[in-house]
Amino acid sequence: MRLAMKNISRVFDNGKTKHVVLENVGFTIGTGEFVTLLGPSGCGKTTLLNIIAGFLPATGGTITLNDALVTKPGPDRGFIFQDYALFPWMKVKDNILYPMKRLGVPKAEREERLGQLMALAQLQGKENLYPHQLSGGMKQRTAVIRALAARPQVLLMDEPFGAVDFQMRMIMQEEMEALWLKDRTTVLMVTHDVEEAIYLSDRVIVMSSDRGRILEDIRIDLPRPRQRKGDAYHHYEDRLIDLLKTALGTGPAEEARGDSRATVALASAAQCAAEYTGCAPQELAAMGERA
Ligand SMILES: Nc1ncnc2c1ncn2[C@@H]1O[C@H](COP(=O)(O)OP(=O)(O)O)[C@@H](O)[C@H]1O
Ligand SMILES: [Mg+2]
Repeated sequence: MRLAMKNISRVFDNGKTKHVVLENVGFTIGTGEFVTLLGPSGCGKTTLLNIIAGFLPATGGTITLNDALVTKPGPDRGFIFQDYALFPWMKVKDNILYPMKRLGVPKAEREERLGQLMALAQLQGKENLYPHQLSGGMKQRTAVIRALAARPQVLLMDEPFGAVDFQMRMIMQEEMEALWLKDRTTVLMVTHDVEEAIYLSDRVIVMSSDRGRILEDIRIDLPRPRQRKGDAYHHYEDRLIDLLKTALGTGPAEEARGDSRATVALASAAQCAAEYTGCAPQELAAMGERA
């Protein structure tokens, strides 16, 4: 597996002004890596991830997955939305079976894979519950295994622990690590949280607010499962915090606009996700708004 981003640019043009969010951004991810894009709010992380997912076209540059050009969403790239976007009217098992049905996986194989995935996420016995009956951690694990159901080559996650409190966030990071250690699917995650990036990643790519420029690509060389302590851990923390300060200082003050734009981004992502999941875009967008 090789996912390669080359000279990615993205300009938002509202007719009056042109806003260059990404310019010539490039990096590569290899098999089994857990890579995180870390950058201040508004630096273009979601934009870049949506381009990689195929939800949003780039203005320039190319993305290849195993040398094939990526132009639209596909089951080779699993996507986990910030709010998980589980189908609230479907039981856990049906949420997970859904992408496999869409892909035409035969029934016996679907059921077998469902069993494997439920075991992987330690969700056995929860098959017949609805999403609202699950804890935050269980919802997240359900979203992860639903994304894994289609056997993607890479899992894309946009701030997957964004909407929960600090304690829950740590628990979910730990559950994510445990799940990933068993499965080892290649992951590209987006976050603005330094601690989260260090805790989970093999590599942290630091993006700047200045046209998404990559400031550094840092290998996190710490044993797993990770401990949130020790000199080496804190050394990475210091380094990334310094880098984030640089990342902020170099760009225009855009953070304030981030939130309203996120709604726009979600709506357009939902539009494209609809193509992939077969779910109506309004349904997906509504799910996002409810979260
Ligand atoms: N659909 C859009 N139209 C116009 N500007 C957008 C759109 N989506 C994002 N932007 C702008 O691009 C910048 C990067 O946004 P985003 O990728 O959401 O940042 P991040 O995920 O790093 O917080 C922000 O300044 C945002 O306002
Ligand atoms: Mg974002």
